[in-house]
Amino acid sequence: MQIQILPSLLAADFGALRAEALRAENEGGDALHLDIMDAHFVPNLSMGPDVVKMCKAALHIPLSVHLMMTRPDQYFIKFIEAGADSLLIHIEADCDVPKTLHRIHDHGAKAGITVNPDTPAQMIFPMLGIVEEVLCMTVHPGYGGQSFIHEVLPKIREIRDYANANGAPELDIMVDGGINSESAAECARAGANLFVAGTALFGEADMKRAVNRVRTAACEAFVS
Ligand code: DX5
Ligand code: ZN
Repeated sequence: MQIQILPSLLAADFGALRAEALRAENEGGDALHLDIMDAHFVPNLSMGPDVVKMCKAALHIPLSVHLMMTRPDQYFIKFIEAGADSLLIHIEADCDVPKTLHRIHDHGAKAGITVNPDTPAQMIFPMLGIVEEVLCMTVHPGYGGQSFIHEVLPKIREIRDYANANGAPELDIMVDGGINSESAAECARAGANLFVAGTALFGEADMKRAVNRVRTAACEAFVS
């Protein structure tokens, strides 16, 4: 199983966004994670398609775009046009989620389903035949810099076991929120293989070392 580390641009210095995106690529990020917030689904606003477009022009690594939006169905095309390689929408969104996932594929991007900390794993099981990845939120979405919620760990294992038992052992399981080398190890032991981290990477002067620390911890702990 491939372990990947995705720096989250939300924790970057917004006064030097292009340089920060390049730093994530040059210091070993496998893909860049961009958090899009609509002030309805979460009580915050962050960035829009123009930031995705800027990153596409500057970087070679894939762009993972996390839509924390009530109506991702109305906006996802703008993000694909801007250069998103994969789009993550929430199971809690107020739209036809399976249809939107199929439409994301039709427009040439990878599709992922995201599940909030309080939403049970069973809600996303019907989507596993559609998506390339599942994002298990390990904080309540909306802000960077929050503490990892340990109670999510059994749900990650539940999703990995379900995928293994249902012919999808290659499913990518991503975690996002409060990820550092310690929490990454716990998530990897539960079956996660893609790790989004903002504060723990952008907050470090030596980002390469921080990326490697998370990667090593995850690789050593991963259980399929
Ligand atoms: C939270 C976002 C995360 C956030 C993670 O709503 O989805 O991607 O940037 O930030 P850290 O790693 O600081 O918890
Ligand atoms: Zn995110």
